[in-house]
Amino acid sequence: MSLPTYHVLHLSSIIVLLAYTFYAFAAPAETRKRVMMVTGIAALLVAVSGFAMLAKLHLGFPHWVAVKVACWLGLSAMVSFAYRKRASADLFMLIALVLAITAVAMVYVRPF
Ligand code: HEM
Repeated sequence: MSLPTYHVLHLSSIIVLLAYTFYAFAAPAETRKRVMMVTGIAALLVAVSGFAMLAKLHLGFPHWVAVKVACWLGLSAMVSFAYRKRASADLFMLIALVLAITAVAMVYVRPF
């Protein structure tokens, strides 16, 4: 697949991952299984497209990508906190936002 295809796949999967993660913080308990499935697939596609772009661009594994992988891990885990820790929803939503913004900033700033 071409680089633009991976870009579109990466960004589309991120939109789905974030949308369903934030939905999970307010969704009824019976939606858990479906939402976990959607976020799981989206998280997988984010990683697959991300690593495919890394390979196509011959970037190796720079530190800014390591930070993105850490953000991705945190974001992928967030949906389970969303259902189990409703009382701390505000805190976890803030953490999710910080992780997403950090992952985006890493691509454009590439500080290391
Ligand atoms: C396993 C995790 C991830 C890997 C390996 C990864 C890797 C990459 C790579 C290699 C690029 C292309 C850089 C370039 O075009 O020079 C990219 C672009 C991008 N990534 Fe990720 N990424 C990951 C997770 C995330 C996450 C969690 C977010 C946001 C929540 C994110 C947001 C973006 C954005 C906004 C772009 C720019 C796309 C564009 O300019 O068209 N990434 N990523």
